[in-house]
Amino acid sequence: MVPVANTFTEPEPSALLLLLGQGQDAFSERGVDCPGDLPAPSDPDLVARAWAAKQALGERAFILGHHYQRDEVIQFADVTGDSFKLAQKAAASPNSEFIVFCGVHFMAESADILTADDQLVVLPDLAAGCSMADMAAADQVAAAWRSLEAAGVADVTIPVTYMNSTAAIKAFTGEHGGTICTSSNAKKSLDWAFSQGEKVLFLPDQHLGRNTAVLELGMSLDDCVVFDPHKPGGGLTAEQLQRARMILWRGHCSVHGRFTADSVDEIRAKVPNINVLVHPECQHEVVLKSDHVGSTEHIIQTLAAAESGSAWAIGTELNLVRRLASQHPDKQIMFLDKTICYCSTMNRIDLPHLVWALESLVEDRVINQITVDPDTAHWARVALDRMLALPGVGSRD
Ligand code: 13P
Ligand code: SF4
Repeated sequence: MVPVANTFTEPEPSALLLLLGQGQDAFSERGVDCPGDLPAPSDPDLVARAWAAKQALGERAFILGHHYQRDEVIQFADVTGDSFKLAQKAAASPNSEFIVFCGVHFMAESADILTADDQLVVLPDLAAGCSMADMAAADQVAAAWRSLEAAGVADVTIPVTYMNSTAAIKAFTGEHGGTICTSSNAKKSLDWAFSQGEKVLFLPDQHLGRNTAVLELGMSLDDCVVFDPHKPGGGLTAEQLQRARMILWRGHCSVHGRFTADSVDEIRAKVPNINVLVHPECQHEVVLKSDHVGSTEHIIQTLAAAESGSAWAIGTELNLVRRLASQHPDKQIMFLDKTICYCSTMNRIDLPHLVWALESLVEDRVINQITVDPDTAHWARVALDRMLALPGVGSRD
């Protein structure tokens, strides 16, 4: 292995960090206060306390860590993965009393839906929501469906909902004959949906929907329309809805949506042989200018298989890119844009919150339990099971 000069530079901090965790909104994926008797972040024993609590819990607790989590947290994960792999791992953990989810709220909800009733799911910080999931509220989606009914297209439309959504939207999807997808199986879910109907209502990430439809299913941009939940009728005429094949919800990821086509041009000008690899939550113009596009797991596998000495600019969350840069010192791994920062809600889970959650469980106190009501869980599970039953999807490790 030939170490190359360390070219990784920290991007400038973003104002987004200041917005979250303030106020109360029980229906929101973010902005929820999470009061608790937290250990001080300066406590020098936090790492030792976390290991001790984890050891005391043994197999009673199964700790899942999404790849975008901080290093200080990910070291305690029994399994790491993207949202799909973690959902599968939670579903296959019948021996654990507690699932401690180091990720965001919608992932913990999916874990609750997929696990047995006597398994409890804990999210160490309730303020770890997701701004993308917040962009599709249940009443907005119900109103959108009424617009589709008024345009006479609801009967031929199949909802396909990204994993990054609330349980309520997943339940809507299950009840209306649709399926869930993740960034690693969006094409398969859409292929299935188009075998069931003529159109798809894709929620809530317009970019994943557009990128998959155009780049993997061979549709044109004209086949896609954007439904804006803040405008009457989505801002679309009945004729536009009737013509469209992909009805994309106007939602996006506040991290991936900020990469720009200019940042790809800039990095190519600076590093001539650079490979640009981005997540499909990035804007279509960014993906078009990139060399490769793929889910979080795909990015990890691509870099593991890349040639020693090769140069890569990565368009995904910063915790993961920093980790990949330190795991592959023989490759030149850079962050695609110098002004974009961490996912601030993923970063809510820090060592004090993890210690607090684990030590509470040791004392038989369950804090921050995530529960989905039975009716919502039933229909959300119908949609999740449709995804897991797709050929070649459920078997992925
Ligand atoms: P994946 O974990 O499916 O790659 O999704 C990325 C993401 O934004 C998770 O919040
Ligand atoms: Fe949500 Fe984007 Fe953060 Fe993932 S990275 S949790 S989609 S805001």
